[in-house]
Formats: sequence, structure tokens, C-alpha cells
Amino acid sequence: MKFALITGASGGIGLCIARELAKRKNNLLLVARSTDKLKTICSELEKEFAIKADYLSVDLSNPLATQTVVEWLHTKSYAVDTLVNNAGYGLWGRVDATPADQLNNMMQLNMNAVVNMCHAMLPELKKQPKAYIMNIASTAAYQAVPTLATYAASKAFVVLFTRGLRRELKDSNISVTCVSPGATTTNFIDRAGMEAMKERAEKFSMAPEAVASIAVNGMLKGKAEVLPGFTNWFSVQLTYFVPKFIPEKIAEGLYKTN
Ligand SMILES: NC(=O)c1ccc[n+]([C@@H]2O[C@H](COP(=O)([O-])OP(=O)(O)OC[C@H]3O[C@@H](n4cnc5c(N)ncnc54)[C@H](OP(=O)(O)O)[C@@H]3O)[C@@H](O)[C@H]2O)c1
Repeated sequence: MKFALITGASGGIGLCIARELAKRKNNLLLVARSTDKLKTICSELEKEFAIKADYLSVDLSNPLATQTVVEWLHTKSYAVDTLVNNAGYGLWGRVDATPADQLNNMMQLNMNAVVNMCHAMLPELKKQPKAYIMNIASTAAYQAVPTLATYAASKAFVVLFTRGLRRELKDSNISVTCVSPGATTTNFIDRAGMEAMKERAEKFSMAPEAVASIAVNGMLKGKAEVLPGFTNWFSVQLTYFVPKFIPEKIAEGLYKTN
């Protein structure tokens, strides 16, 4: 029996990706911190889609977390053919106004956990006839974003890491896709401390269900990069053609903290 492993599957985009994969009869392994949510989601998805689902509650910002995941898979003899690195969050605020330990925790989850999970899972994924990796970045990855400087840079890392890994694996059984959503209606805004932007953000936000459907279709088609939604796609294309200071200045105005 094969499984798709999804990090950050207790809510938001990750949960919607889990549902999309369950619809396609994938068995699921869901990873996040919220035990109760994961437990409920697993039993609901098992019933609704007649699949098998299990969960592991672990804090992926802990540098030892990947080892915990691998040991769990080994103990349960779970075979994995799809890895979705979705867990991540943002922190709104100037660098000089944010404690360094908070920045480091975010960087650990957004970057190191993604690399560690890919690294740890590659031997398992290589055993499968066909396998997929999907890493979730952001449209913020394509330009510098003042007051989200570290978050945007961490997502730029995900884009370049994912593209590099994809090239390394181009002659293998593993297809690697980077998905960069724009504003999406999830818990992201609250976790990032961006409540003041909520009303404005919601006007431009996509539903996580739509993002997940586009993401999974793109992954299964073997796309290198997926930018869900025309506006998100278009805004990223602009960053290739205009001087860098223009999108930076626009972002500075949009994300001003006071
Ligand atoms: N929403 C947006 O506007 C937006 C835009 C671009 C990119 N993204 C990216 O999309 C991805 C999903 O975010 P979302 O919008 O769906 O946000 P969300 O609703 O806050 O969901 C985040 C998920 O990650 C899990 N998570 C957070 N910290 C974790 C940790 N330390 N260890 C393990 N799991 C952890 C959360 O579960 P627990 O709390 O249970 O651990 C939750 O399942 C993120 O990588 C985010 O950067 C979001």
C-alpha cells in the first residue's frame, strides 16, 4: 500500500491538498503539530473517500523532526510515493523589530525542514515506479518584500532548491514541482501577525480548495513551477521585466506595518 505524505495537513492549503489526493484514491500520511485536528481529519477522510489515513504530530521546526518522521514510517512499514512539503508560515514585521529566535524558527521550518524531508525521503521515493515531490513556496519568493523580508527570502530558497532538485532528478522516477500560491484564505494571516491586513488581503485571496486543486493537477502533470490563479501568475511575470525597485516599492506600501 502506497501513501502520500503531506506536511502542514491540519488546515489551510495542506488539508485541501490532502482532500484532493484522497479524491484520487491516494492513502494519506498527515503531519503537523495539532494532534486532535489530525486525528479527526484522518477519520473523516477515511470514511468519505474509502482510503487509509494516518497521522504524526510533530513540530517540524525541530531539527530532529525529520528523523522522527522517518522512524515512524519505518516502524509502520509505510511506503511513500508522494511527498508534499507544505508546512510553513510568515512573520510580519521589520527585521530589527523581530526577535532573532522567531526568525530562526521560521527559517528552520520554511527551508531546513523542506530540504531535510526531501533528503530523508529520496531513498524511499526512488524505490517506487513513479513518485512526486511538491514543495510549497509563495509568490513572495519572486521579489524582496519589506516587512516580510525573511519570509520572502525563505520562499525564494524553496523555489531555487526545488528547481535544482528537479534538474538533478530529471532522469529518475521522481517528478519535482514547486507551487507558489498568492494570498489564500487560511490561517496564514493570523499566524503571521497580519490581522491588520486581513480585510484587504481577503479581497485578493484565492480559496485554498482552488489552490490545492491547481497544485495537485500541476504536480501530476509534472510541471516545474505552478502559480495558481491568473493574477498571481501575471504579477510574477512582471517581476522579470520591471526594475526590481518597482515591485519592492509597491510591496513596501502594501505591507507597511504602521
Ligand atoms: N495563505 C497564504 O496566503 C499563502 C500564500 C503563499 C504561500 N503560502 C504557504 O502555504 C503553506 C501553507 O500555509 P497555509 O496558508 O495553509 O497556512 P495555515 O492555514 O497556517 O496552515 C499551516 C499548516 O502548517 C502546519 N504547521 C505550522 N507550523 C508547523 C510546525 N512547526 N511543524 C509542523 N507543522 C506546522 C500547521 O499545522 P499545526 O499548527 O497543527 O502544526 C498547518 O497545518 C505555507 O508554506 C505558506 O507559507 C500561504
